[in-house]
Amino acid sequence: MKKFNINQTIGESVTVHPELVKIYMDYGVDFCCGGDRTVKEAVEKDTDKVEELILDAEKALEEASMVSVESKNLKLSDLSSEQLVNRILSKHHSYLKKELPVISNLMSKVLMVHGENHEELFEIHKLFGQLKTDLESHLVKEEVMLFPKLKENDSSSKSLIIELEDEHDVAGDALHILTELTDHFTLPEDACSSYEMLYEKFKTFVSDMYMHVHTENNILFKRFA
Ligand SMILES: [Fe+2]
Ligand SMILES: [Fe+2]
Repeated sequence: MKKFNINQTIGESVTVHPELVKIYMDYGVDFCCGGDRTVKEAVEKDTDKVEELILDAEKALEEASMVSVESKNLKLSDLSSEQLVNRILSKHHSYLKKELPVISNLMSKVLMVHGENHEELFEIHKLFGQLKTDLESHLVKEEVMLFPKLKENDSSSKSLIIELEDEHDVAGDALHILTELTDHFTLPEDACSSYEMLYEKFKTFVSDMYMHVHTENNILFKRFA
């Protein structure tokens, strides 16, 4: 079993291991806004299920250390740039293309029914709408302008990589605000099943985005920066 270092800051832990985001969200641990706390401090303050969380985290680290590509178990960093691009497209870009419109429709529905009693939904709607628009053009830049070059190991796109990394930062900030506005995706008492589904989809969206940006920034783009 992989050892989970609880003495690093919680901010560092998700940068190095974005797979922890889902676990922190499941246990209601604030990983984004209290980023300077150690994992130990954050977990002990935000949940009383400390031991369960640590076991789940160790399991997640173990599973994430290897990915299955063409029936072989490999580390993400061992993949060729072409394999990494293919993985990003099939795992993360196709997820966004499928889910962004679904979440957007659900968001509009929940706003219509609950906006009057939950004013924060107007802000969440606006924030998500902007993020969706930004991500749609971001994916085009990657798929049309950058990835074909990286597949060929062409490193002539440094300024485009910087631009895309800046866009990742903007998206990361929006994900933090989304987490705050929804109070860590905590449902109000009068939530209906659409509200519930929207928050579940938000959680999957946030954790997928962390893995996506991690794979690009820290593994793929780093090779060409
Ligand atoms: Fe991407
Ligand atoms: Fe990206």
